[in-house]
Amino acid sequence: MPNLLAIKKKIKKFKKVINVSGDKSISIRWVLFSSLAEGTSTAKNLLLSQDVLAALRAINKLGIKSKINNNECKVYGKGIDGYKYKKNLVIDAANSGTLGRLILGILINTTFPIKLVGDNSLSKRDFNRVSEPLSKFGANFILRNNKNLPLKIFGSKKLRSINYIEKKGSAQCKSSIIFAGLRANGTTIIKAKKSRNHTELLCKYLKLPVKVNVKKNYDQIKISKFKKIPVLNYNIPSDISSSAFFIVLTALGKNSELEIKNVNINNTRTGIISILRKMGVKIIYKNPKNYKGEKIANIKIKSPKVLKSINCPAKLNSGAIDEFLVIFLVAAKANGTSYFKGLSELNQKESPRLIWGGKILSKMGVKNIITKDSIKIFGNPNLNIEKEIVIKNYLKDHRVFMTSVIAALSFGGSWKIHDKDSINTSFPNFMKIINYIKK
Ligand code: S3P
Repeated sequence: MPNLLAIKKKIKKFKKVINVSGDKSISIRWVLFSSLAEGTSTAKNLLLSQDVLAALRAINKLGIKSKINNNECKVYGKGIDGYKYKKNLVIDAANSGTLGRLILGILINTTFPIKLVGDNSLSKRDFNRVSEPLSKFGANFILRNNKNLPLKIFGSKKLRSINYIEKKGSAQCKSSIIFAGLRANGTTIIKAKKSRNHTELLCKYLKLPVKVNVKKNYDQIKISKFKKIPVLNYNIPSDISSSAFFIVLTALGKNSELEIKNVNINNTRTGIISILRKMGVKIIYKNPKNYKGEKIANIKIKSPKVLKSINCPAKLNSGAIDEFLVIFLVAAKANGTSYFKGLSELNQKESPRLIWGGKILSKMGVKNIITKDSIKIFGNPNLNIEKEIVIKNYLKDHRVFMTSVIAALSFGGSWKIHDKDSINTSFPNFMKIINYIKK
């Protein structure tokens, strides 16, 4: 299959109902919790992308078996001490920050040192943000450049609880500390800047000793040592971060309508909905329900007549952290200048995404000014691209690829987007759904 996608035509108006793949954050967490559970856990609609397959391979290396059959995945957990720690183990987190960071919290009691490796993109990312708090529990680390992969974790059987202030709003750091806290003696207390709370909700559903005290600007999380994890049967809802591309495709369209079924609308993830509503996009939730602590609904979107610019409140950032690249496309078509701030974390993702956001807009002929943590976008409601645009060398960041596809279909021009296989990390079905909407 050619790895270059050429798009030369805008999409016509559409009215469709779609199903998007399973949530990546929950899928990886399901694999990890199930691997520590006592017995066989089953997931339906698990996201079968490279990141999640890497999680399954990681637990397989630790002696935990799994099986995939049609739309069902089984993990044969052996309890909280069921991992087989062998000498010279190497775990490959591939492209996944979530896998790499969360699993370190679980491996904190390893008998032998374990090497953690990742792909080119993951090897550029900061792992000091987890090795630093995990060291306080009593583990030791050797990292390349003191912060990168490959790293080696030296576990401890005498883990002490810690108090930690998590200032980045990183759910990966918070979750890694929660896993370590579950293995430590005493009570670990995290004061965590707001971020997605799937780990906490799963702990609550599994009745693990984790208490969350929700405050206005942060969450206080108290974690004690766990004794066991029961099996976790789970029907994974659709991923709002994957849905975001189609939500924006509709928001940038004319007279189009879209319904996306069964999407996770956990309020720590719906920043994009709040932001687009402020920009004038009509989005409604149909049949909202609660599933094991998560909120799920069908999302209905209609193309708006006018898009308004936004001065985006930074408090919405954490709930939209993976969606900013596509949100910038909406700002590109808005009436007026939009401003997004407090976004230095965007440059810590699979690629430096704030920089890439600015680059894509500049290639599209949209004036923008970026700093190390903000972007100003000068919108143009009549934006229509006629030139050739090439997107390549972006560290295979799946979201750069998918954002470029949405831009090409919405604004025209002749696009050549390299590294199509980048979508396999998070959303292998992306092009299938695009083609279905185009039909
Ligand atoms: C994730 C947390 C976020 C997000 C990532 C998934 C998670 O990362 O960007 O795609 O599943 O916990 P940070 O923890 O670095 O903010």
